[in-house]
Amino acid sequence: MRVTIIGSGYVGLVSGACLAETGNIVMCMDKDVEKITLLKAGKIPFHEPGLAPLVEKNVSDGRLIFTTDLRSAVRHAPVIFVAVGTPPRSNGEADLSAVEETARAIGAHLDGPAVIVTKSTVPVGTAGRVKTLISDKTTHPFAVIANPEFLKEGAAVHDFMSPDRVILGGDDSEAISLLRTLYAPFMRREDRILVMDAASAELTKYAANAMLATRVSFMNEIAALREIIGANAEHVRHGIGSDSRIGSSFLFPGTGFGGSCFPKDLAALLHLGERYGIDLRTIRATLEVNRTQKRILLHRVQREFGEYLDGKIFALWGLAFKPGTDDMREAPALEIIDGLLARGAEVRATDPVALERGRELFGHRIVLDRDSYRILEGADGLLLVTEWNEYRFPDFERIRGLLRKPVLFDGRNIWSRRLVESLGFTYYGIGV
Ligand SMILES: NC(=O)c1ccc[n+]([C@@H]2O[C@H](COP(=O)([O-])OP(=O)(O)OC[C@H]3O[C@@H](n4cnc5c(N)ncnc54)[C@H](O)[C@@H]3O)[C@@H](O)[C@H]2O)c1
Repeated sequence: MRVTIIGSGYVGLVSGACLAETGNIVMCMDKDVEKITLLKAGKIPFHEPGLAPLVEKNVSDGRLIFTTDLRSAVRHAPVIFVAVGTPPRSNGEADLSAVEETARAIGAHLDGPAVIVTKSTVPVGTAGRVKTLISDKTTHPFAVIANPEFLKEGAAVHDFMSPDRVILGGDDSEAISLLRTLYAPFMRREDRILVMDAASAELTKYAANAMLATRVSFMNEIAALREIIGANAEHVRHGIGSDSRIGSSFLFPGTGFGGSCFPKDLAALLHLGERYGIDLRTIRATLEVNRTQKRILLHRVQREFGEYLDGKIFALWGLAFKPGTDDMREAPALEIIDGLLARGAEVRATDPVALERGRELFGHRIVLDRDSYRILEGADGLLLVTEWNEYRFPDFERIRGLLRKPVLFDGRNIWSRRLVESLGFTYYGIGV
């Protein structure tokens, strides 16, 4: 089948590469000339495990093509995925201008029947809006199907290839049947396609992210309670996670959630509720707890060193919002670094893959170094912000020897308090 993807970021590029891998001829379009130039030169513009070889193979086999030309992309295929960004506006509302611009362009360039698939995360009613915008510009028959994406950065290729479910929202049976065929290679074990109306599909995506984020904030509140009453949040996590009605995912206390999805999607859901006169209190509380949580390491640092940090040096391990990605959108590290700098401290940071992003964001305001030990020399404390595997069992003796003061601020509870205290460190965890 011929397939077009409009928007070649995390979602679009992964979708395009995976669909090419199953034999389709995929054209990935993006308006970002620099991104497409990089892709044409065989370079992946962001870090995503397993993506580079997949792209390379399918490009060399002629199944994956990149373009900035929207007209030829629209005319390339009868199935057009829309995977452009839907960033938040200042009031939290999802900015649909890229989706709407794409819909108008699709309408203007269609030269035959087509199925338009909205993969971007969009508020309820967007599929209908896309339909209107396209039909204003074309007389060719077309269907719009809402197909929200659930992949996780850091495991995106795996998630696309082995999805928990694929949701198709719409009532055009021919279009649904065509998408069933396209997704069939990823459903070999069992059919996990759920068909529903477009509004339910659109809301499912927001509801799923809201549920996961709520679990994180809930656990962070339990961890905060522990600080007062004395208990171990990790024991509590195991205790509740082992209940099969609860499960263990997304219950890790930490420095709060970030990334391109949770914060923006919860804000958009809250805004959607407001538009319809409903105050989504759980969502509001989840975001509020997270806002405080992102500053927790900063508060710990101030508890140890006082309010003003002039002349102090802090080392950060981890910049990405989670392991497996170089994405720093809404990452807790941003707030922590800004807070430390604002209080007069010097910041040095490392990350296995996100140094370039860190450089784009902070320039020379902080020291960035791939060597996680070099940045510890003479530093007053070490803050663990992203739980990359390589930070799990570091050489603590060496760390102690390098730090001016042996203090560890473990924002992800990856180190054992007992172990590090026995080695002479002062240890701050999250609820442990
Ligand atoms: N990143 C994730 O983990 C994830 C997971 C599920 C769903 N989503 C959703 O998928 C959508 C895309 O997210 P992403 O993380 O891939 O974003 P991204 O910013 O990485 O990619 C979006 C791409 O769209 C391009 N674009 C914007 N306007 C365009 C236009 N008019 N024409 C052509 N290209 C255009 C941008 O240049 C960019 O390359 C968002 O709605 C997001 O919420 C993201």
